[in-house]
Amino acid sequence: MDFADLLLTRQSVRRYRDQPVEPEKIAQLIEAVRLAPSASNSQPWKLIIVDEPDLKDQVALATFSTLVSFNKFVPQAPVLAVLVVEKPKLITQIGGRLKDRDFPLIDIGIAAEHFCLQAAELGLGTCMLGWFDEPAIQRLLHIPPHKRIGLLIALGYSEGEDPPRPKIRKSRQEMCSFNRYE
Ligand SMILES: Cc1cc2nc3c(=O)[nH]c(=O)nc-3n(C[C@H](O)[C@H](O)[C@H](O)COP(=O)(O)O)c2cc1C
Repeated sequence: MDFADLLLTRQSVRRYRDQPVEPEKIAQLIEAVRLAPSASNSQPWKLIIVDEPDLKDQVALATFSTLVSFNKFVPQAPVLAVLVVEKPKLITQIGGRLKDRDFPLIDIGIAAEHFCLQAAELGLGTCMLGWFDEPAIQRLLHIPPHKRIGLLIALGYSEGEDPPRPKIRKSRQEMCSFNRYE
């Protein structure tokens, strides 16, 4: 797929078909994350693919509650990907402290977008999930409590949503300027 078309095709999918994702496609998604760039090439992530149905359902339930209902669609997704933030290289830790930059979180975002774009190219839908019960998911997936979870990604075949929805975005003038901040 042409890259510009891929950018329009990738969208947050919140309705999934009851259809498993092929292992070859999962392998390609893992590779897409593995190849992502990162500060000092630290690769400060662990990717956990949650595809065991009961466990996946329990993790999905930890992305919403009675108070926060916007992630109620998540149990429909047959697979959840969890990006755990790992310690970067020492040089990146020092640089991050000196410059007050959270490089690993930036890196996780890039890795997540690699995953989502590759998924779109494979005909799969995704939705990044930044809202979840972190301690509950740490317990379910045996993630040590001191390790932060950067993002979850719901994955599966989209139910409908074809062609892609028009993008709701700021205008170019609002989000970009040349040669100075405006
Ligand atoms: C860091 C991050 C966290 C997000 N968290 C959620 C979430 O918890 N639930 C959800 O439904 N969508 C979530 N989204 C999806 C955004 O709402 C979505 O990307 C945005 O509205 C643009 O729409 P599009 O992805 O369809 O282009 C998240 C996206 C990002 C990048």
